Amino acid sequence: MKALLLAGGLGTRLRPLTENLPKPMAPVGNRPWLEHVLLHLKRQGIDEFVIAVKHYPEIIKERLGDGRRLGVQIEYSVERSLLGTAGAIKNAESLLSDRFLVVNADIVHNMSILPLLEFHLQHKGLVTIGLTEVEDPSQYGVVQQDSTGEILCFIEKPKRNEAPSRRVNAGIYVMDKEALQWIPKNKEVSIEKETFPLLIEHRAVYGTKVDGYWMDMGTNERYRKVHWDLLDRKFPLPLNEIEQDTGIWVGEDTQIGSGVLFLPPVLIGDEVHIGDRSVIGPYAVIGDRCVIGKHVRCSETIMWDGCKVHDAAQLNNCIFGYDLELEARHILYQAVMNRMTGVVQG
Ligand code: GDD
Ligand code: MG
Repeated sequence: MKALLLAGGLGTRLRPLTENLPKPMAPVGNRPWLEHVLLHLKRQGIDEFVIAVKHYPEIIKERLGDGRRLGVQIEYSVERSLLGTAGAIKNAESLLSDRFLVVNADIVHNMSILPLLEFHLQHKGLVTIGLTEVEDPSQYGVVQQDSTGEILCFIEKPKRNEAPSRRVNAGIYVMDKEALQWIPKNKEVSIEKETFPLLIEHRAVYGTKVDGYWMDMGTNERYRKVHWDLLDRKFPLPLNEIEQDTGIWVGEDTQIGSGVLFLPPVLIGDEVHIGDRSVIGPYAVIGDRCVIGKHVRCSETIMWDGCKVHDAAQLNNCIFGYDLELEARHILYQAVMNRMTGVVQG
């Protein structure tokens, strides 16, 4: 079975981090999330992928190529105009198998695919939606089901008091290719607002709960939460870094100055330099090749690869995009920044 990864959204809610990056390429635990998705699905026996891309396809292709480095096979379906979630699936039709998996590539998860597939084989529908339960369903696609699991209604982002349940679309589907006949070609179509309601009328959509960690990383707040859950071991994601002491993960060829204090949990990437007497943590994720000066104080902060923080800067609750440079003695609190676009509070 092939998996189609939807990776073409604009990622507006994660700006400025995703200003010039497809959202699923945002790193989680120092590695682009999309790469984790491929590896997670590979561990479950899926090794043929189609990635549906719209914005910055070259960034994804440059990093993942044909997938050989990760031991998988990747084909790309590139959209020239905005096609929406269903339009993107239709556009990839010729590359898909008779039955395939669709995954919203911005969902941070470690869900098992087998129960979803087994449930799909038990009913006569064309689609099985993986479901999860959330406190506030208003940000998601909410479903109402009968006792057999058939979905009777699907409402995308309902108003708070109009959600029929707290069960939401987890952004993962098993689909039979036959379902694609309901999606028009070369047109912007939303699977959530158009295709699912249409297929529900034909009694072809079922849903089942998927277990495991699940988080849509689409906002700064949730992006932070994914990382703190990772450091708190609530989200068991395989990491390249080695846990050298409890809650202190460090990568290869990293140089740590004298008197540096790590307050766990912290995750430090490869080839990082940390200057004397800096205090890192609690809750710090430092990407590969970052250079941190002396006497720096850095807590509750996520830094992508290649950042430079000069001496005596103080950071709390920040997210830095790739290659950002911060001057000496700068004090930053709750800033989300990208090298090109500067500071945004949030
Ligand atoms: N190729 C392609 N083309 N991909 C797209 C397009 C498109 O035009 N539009 C969106 N995507 C991708 C995004 O990159 C993302 O991975 C996924 O489709 C979902 O889009 P989002 O923009 O992140 O949607 P959402 O988070 O508001 O809601 C969706 O996900 C929720 C789960 O997190 C919906 O599917 C909800 O029903 C669901 O509950
Ligand atoms: Mg999303």
